Amino acid sequence: MKPGKPLRVTAVGAREDAWLRLDKVTLGSLWLVRTVEDGPIKAFSTVCPHLGCGIDFDDKASKFNCPCHASAFDLDGRCLMGPAPRACAACAAHWALAAREWRPCERLL
Ligand code: FES
Repeated sequence: MKPGKPLRVTAVGAREDAWLRLDKVTLGSLWLVRTVEDGPIKAFSTVCPHLGCGIDFDDKASKFNCPCHASAFDLDGRCLMGPAPRACAACAAHWALAAREWRPCERLL
C-alpha cells in the first residue's frame, strides 16, 4: 500500500442481536491509509460524521471530501473544514489472511 494513497475496502465481521449471530456479514466500508513508507496502516469509517454521507478521496488535493455539505478531512481523518463537528471515526482493523478480507476490531461502522 503506497503512502498517501488511501484504499477503500469492504469491512466484514460478525453481527448479532437477541436471536441471531451471523459470523460473516458486510458491515460497511473503511478507508485504509498509510502516511509513511512501512508505517502503520490507519483505518477509519467512510461515513461522514456530519450527517452520514459517504466520504470520497480527492487524489489531486490529497484529502477526503464529503460531497453532501463540503466537509473535508486530512489523511489522518482530522476535520479540515466543517460542518462536520469532528474527525472521521477511527477504527481498528486487521487483515484476516485466511479469509482475505479486512475486519474491523471494533463496532464503529
Ligand atoms: S454529511 Fe458530510 S458534510 Fe454533511
